[in-house]
Amino acid sequence: MFKRQKSLVGLDLGSSVVKAVELSLEGPEPVVTGFARAEIPPGGSASDAVAACFQAGKFKSKKVVTSVAGQSVVVRYVTMPKMSEGELRQAIRFETDKYLPFELDEVQLDLMPLKRTPASGEAAKGKDGEQQAVLLAACKSRAIDERIQLVQGQGLSPVAIDVDVFALANAWELCGLPADEVTEGEIKTAIALVDVGATRTSINVIVGGETCFSREINIGGADMTQAVARAMSIENFEAEAIKRASEAHELEVNTAIQPVLEDLVGELTLSLDYVEHHEGVQVEEILLSGGGVLAPGAAQHIEQSTGRKARTWNPLEGLRVDASRVDVEELETWAPTLVVAVGLASRVRTS
Ligand SMILES: Nc1ncnc2c1ncn2[C@@H]1O[C@H](COP(=O)(O)OP(=O)(O)OP(=O)(O)O)[C@@H](O)[C@H]1O
Ligand SMILES: [Mg+2]
Repeated sequence: MFKRQKSLVGLDLGSSVVKAVELSLEGPEPVVTGFARAEIPPGGSASDAVAACFQAGKFKSKKVVTSVAGQSVVVRYVTMPKMSEGELRQAIRFETDKYLPFELDEVQLDLMPLKRTPASGEAAKGKDGEQQAVLLAACKSRAIDERIQLVQGQGLSPVAIDVDVFALANAWELCGLPADEVTEGEIKTAIALVDVGATRTSINVIVGGETCFSREINIGGADMTQAVARAMSIENFEAEAIKRASEAHELEVNTAIQPVLEDLVGELTLSLDYVEHHEGVQVEEILLSGGGVLAPGAAQHIEQSTGRKARTWNPLEGLRVDASRVDVEELETWAPTLVVAVGLASRVRTS
């Protein structure tokens, strides 16, 4: 009689803004049934921002998926002899120090066999038969416990802890964007998901629907704010407001943030060149997200300097929104900053 309704809140605990997006399964396709964001003021806490989000958002569910990122997380793409997933999990425990800079007893470990064949060279090295590519992720247990406590402290129930770079890929998959199967001659095409946050930029390169490279760069919107503050000899909070009121100060802001964008693009290009060379793929398009890409001229700069097509990405494209519960205009305004939250909530399909 009562159709069971599944809802899940993706809770992106960003370093400067907490973002929460709820997806519900009311039919085969998920629907956006809640959205809220709360900025963390200087000196403010993430818990207060989470509380503010759940007060403002009309969420149906208290079940959340959140994520970890930064130095507590290590992701590796490794080549191992072909074996079952269970055997892989066993084997990896004996070889942790070969792959990870952490001790086994201080981390939570997860792995996923990848469909693709290992990059040439690696495969050739395997003397003991067939090799396979495996994605390995480790996170310091302390960082996970902190996340769980924060969420539970707000009366919420954490159902999973993900990693920011993987949430990007999950949002991409949810969007059902055309698969990058097209091959030009021998070269496979890839797309790069690039999320420019406040303190870091997360990159995930997708080939044939699957991740083949990810990395974080410690450059983001906060560096742009600082550059504006220095250039105009003003406080950070003033610089933040001026940076966002781009029309009024476009030239000054543009000039001030130029060196930050150049550093960012330099690192991004290194990563893309590496993955193209190492994986034999061509990165056709860059999908940009995160608050940092809202800065004036950021997207154009990235497109021109990397020599690759780039566009700002709305992860809600194609998703139905329940307008009785969500402020649609507000949602659209912040859509490019919601990629991680949407990717986290996309687990509603499988949870
Ligand atoms: N209109 C705007 N113009 C320029 N920058 C903006 C604008 N709006 C927000 N930002 C910047 O976006 C950043 C916040 O983006 P986002 O919410 O993606 O970061 P975060 O998830 O909190 O950070 P991180 O992922 O690094 O932990 C801030 O640095 C902010 O200054
Ligand atoms: Mg972020």
